[in-house]
Amino acid sequence: MLNIAVFASGRGSNFEALHRAIEEQNIPAQIAVVISNNSAAGALSLARSLGIPALHLSQRHYPDPAAFHQAVLQTLVRYAADLIVLAGYMKKMDAEIVRAFPQRIINIHPALLPKFGGEGMYGMHVHTAVIAAGEKESGASVHYVDEEYDRGAVIAQQRVPVLPDDTPETLSARVLTAEHQLLPSVVKNIAQNHRP
Ligand code: GAR
Repeated sequence: MLNIAVFASGRGSNFEALHRAIEEQNIPAQIAVVISNNSAAGALSLARSLGIPALHLSQRHYPDPAAFHQAVLQTLVRYAADLIVLAGYMKKMDAEIVRAFPQRIINIHPALLPKFGGEGMYGMHVHTAVIAAGEKESGASVHYVDEEYDRGAVIAQQRVPVLPDDTPETLSARVLTAEHQLLPSVVKNIAQNHRP
């Protein structure tokens, strides 16, 4: 059984899609904890309603960055996390945590990396940039997290068309549907190959 820690800063629709897929497809995994830097994150209330431990861990409570990273690490150890899934987590993962979980942190990004990644490229900014660049297709990427933003090796991608009359909102909705399929399929693969 693969123990997953989900990090999410916002709405939490990717967390919800992953949770549903685990239940419906009998994926040998469980979401052990949901962690957010945002106390108002939809992901936290959703986790609570599902009976999943939901923790607000923010640098506001740990002004010293080293203490903050220690708190995150201790939480991951306490919940015996095998895999960390960044599902709309808007903070950079600290290098110490990345080193503690080599090839065990994955992120979902709403574009076809390596295009439209990097600092500042998150959420609606990504879709606005894709349309402004006149791209004919976009999509979702799941990649390993390393010490740089959106740089780790891509594990899988799902493509969607960019339509001539798309707005960032309509494109975002189409990409999000792809994200909700892609993330669970990658996690399923990892879970099925996981040897404790
Ligand atoms: C998703 O579109 C995800 O790809 C994006 O934030 C959204 C979170 O939605 N992540 C990034 O932009 C990371 N760079 P959700 O809270 O409904 O899952």
